[in-house]
Amino acid sequence: MSRIDVAILGATGMVGQRFVELLDRHPLFRVAELAASDRSVGKRYGDAAPWRLDSEPLLQDRVVVACEPGTIRSKVVFSALDKGAAVGIEAAFRDAGHLVISNASAYRMDEGVPLLIPEVNPDHVGLVHAALSAGRGVIVTNPNCTCIPLVVALRPLHDRFGVEAVTCASYQAVSGAGYPGESAWDMLGNVHPHPGDEEEKVSEEPKKILGTLVGGGIAPATFPISARCVRVPVTDGHLIAAQIRLTGNPSPADVVEALRDYVAPYELPSSPRPLLRLTERRDRPTPRTDAMAGGGMAITVGRVEACEVMGIKLFALAHNAIRGAAGGAIANAELLHRMGLIAG
Ligand SMILES: NC(=O)c1ccc[n+]([C@@H]2O[C@H](COP(=O)([O-])OP(=O)(O)OC[C@H]3O[C@@H](n4cnc5c(N)ncnc54)[C@H](OP(=O)(O)O)[C@@H]3O)[C@@H](O)[C@H]2O)c1
Repeated sequence: MSRIDVAILGATGMVGQRFVELLDRHPLFRVAELAASDRSVGKRYGDAAPWRLDSEPLLQDRVVVACEPGTIRSKVVFSALDKGAAVGIEAAFRDAGHLVISNASAYRMDEGVPLLIPEVNPDHVGLVHAALSAGRGVIVTNPNCTCIPLVVALRPLHDRFGVEAVTCASYQAVSGAGYPGESAWDMLGNVHPHPGDEEEKVSEEPKKILGTLVGGGIAPATFPISARCVRVPVTDGHLIAAQIRLTGNPSPADVVEALRDYVAPYELPSSPRPLLRLTERRDRPTPRTDAMAGGGMAITVGRVEACEVMGIKLFALAHNAIRGAAGGAIANAELLHRMGLIAG
């Protein structure tokens, strides 16, 4: 089977490079176009964006093109654009009939835009099913990278018991802020309790993701979430400490069983098996040991224990730039392909 051509908007950033890395030898998709800002247009990819990942540099001689629908032929475009740039550029691609699969937050909370994790809420594709079937342009988004370990852990617990309230605090890697990201002054020998507007995103996005598709919209889940977000001097991997109140006040053993029993509704080329890894070690999960679990696509949960205030407390960890960004977007594209909504 020949692979489907795709473009990467924002190909020169931290997430853009992860897209290039993850799409190399992907069974379904082939990178046809690399696009970025005026700063990079016309340059060799290798010159516009020195490779910042541990892997071998890829596509170094490709020429970077502009993020304009008239320039890009691929119907499917992955977006790793800054939020500010994404607002206008993603809308222009959608209006020109492209399928935009985005990491940016610009459209995540829009009513008609799915905020998707294929293993968690694949039915939310229903928001755009008709438009995609008719060949119209749409935007599909994946969640904030800090939200992902939390919401993947909450899905089985919401299904089995019902979530009543969540409080959480994040320990977020510096790669989550892109390149060059936070200043060295803020990060060296320090922790930084102001990573942008993450707290709002972590408080709101899980409610949409765990909401119910009703008619043409999503009825959000109604439980409150109070989040604090902190950047720590770690390269990759966001760790989240969560306290959760569940209906019926189940024991930690019941919660572990619900997490272990969870079976993702689809198996996709990028899906890790298992999706949720449970560790019994008291010193895990950690970014160094667990961020790359399942090729960076698994969520590791540990320290599931009784909480005197909320009932249950646990840690959950995911790779922010793979599961939390490029890998999550590619999994969304795989889901749409499986549903017959991306033609070969
Ligand atoms: N890093 C993560 O772990 C992570 C996780 C989840 C979601 N995200 C989201 O993913 C997106 C990319 O994040 P990142 O960390 O990769 O950021 P980044 O390293 O700062 O990269 C930003 C990219 O956007 C391009 N860009 C900026 N302004 C542009 C414009 N006006 N026109 C066209 N292209 C423009 C840049 O191109 P030039 O190089 O040419 O300037 C670069 O390719 C953001 O929306 C971020 O919130 C990131």
